[in-house]
Amino acid sequence: MGEKIIIAIDGFSSTGKSTIAKLLAKKYNYIYVDTGAMYRAVTLFAKQNNFVGKDFLDKKGLVSSLKEISLSFQFNIELGFAEMFLNGKNVEKEIRTLEVSQLVSKVAAVSEVRKKLVAEQKIMGEDSGIVMDGRDIGTVVFPNAELKLFMTASADKRATRRYKELIDRGDKVDFKDILFNVEERDRIDSTREDSPLVKADDAIEFDNSDMGIKEQFDRICALVDRRIV
Ligand code: DC
Repeated sequence: MGEKIIIAIDGFSSTGKSTIAKLLAKKYNYIYVDTGAMYRAVTLFAKQNNFVGKDFLDKKGLVSSLKEISLSFQFNIELGFAEMFLNGKNVEKEIRTLEVSQLVSKVAAVSEVRKKLVAEQKIMGEDSGIVMDGRDIGTVVFPNAELKLFMTASADKRATRRYKELIDRGDKVDFKDILFNVEERDRIDSTREDSPLVKADDAIEFDNSDMGIKEQFDRICALVDRRIV
């Protein structure tokens, strides 16, 4: 097997980045890092401490408490991926609620939050053999990644996938709220001042609106194989 590389996967919300990233990590025996989970965990902390809510963001309060936030991933053998821990507590389920999704883009736009998380992400990539997904991986975290993918799909398709995920795990949600959230997050993530979601010049774009997981995965594996020979 050839050398280990860094695979950066960016794109709009609910484009299936993490599904592909997990499959790649398994196949190539790489570490998978879900950076969205890190922003979600900081958002959960902010919500619990009343720094963020539907109509407000106490940026000063949040920034001054950032040093109290300790994030870690712990691999769950049964699930086959690493779960997010916030200050020692498994928050994997709590960070996936619609409520956190509705607040996360506001928190992720705070430069100090990004600075802290990007620094932690860069350290995780020191030993290559990593698949990282998010919004700024190919542009900011690993501008030198050997393979950069940029995933897109229609908002309707993405909202349908996310809706199904939440319903399957027992959450009571309305489709129209999910669609609104998907579009609203895209808007905030793409227009924020600090490291907005943009396709890196050298990223390969994947529109998977009409592509199944298997076809996507096969195509992406071919790209990876070309990079690691
Ligand atoms: O990938 P996700 O949907 O779980 O990410 C949640 C939010 O976190 C997303 O709407 C924007 C933010 N995010 C970010 O700003 N930068 C990243 N690298 C990853 C996520």
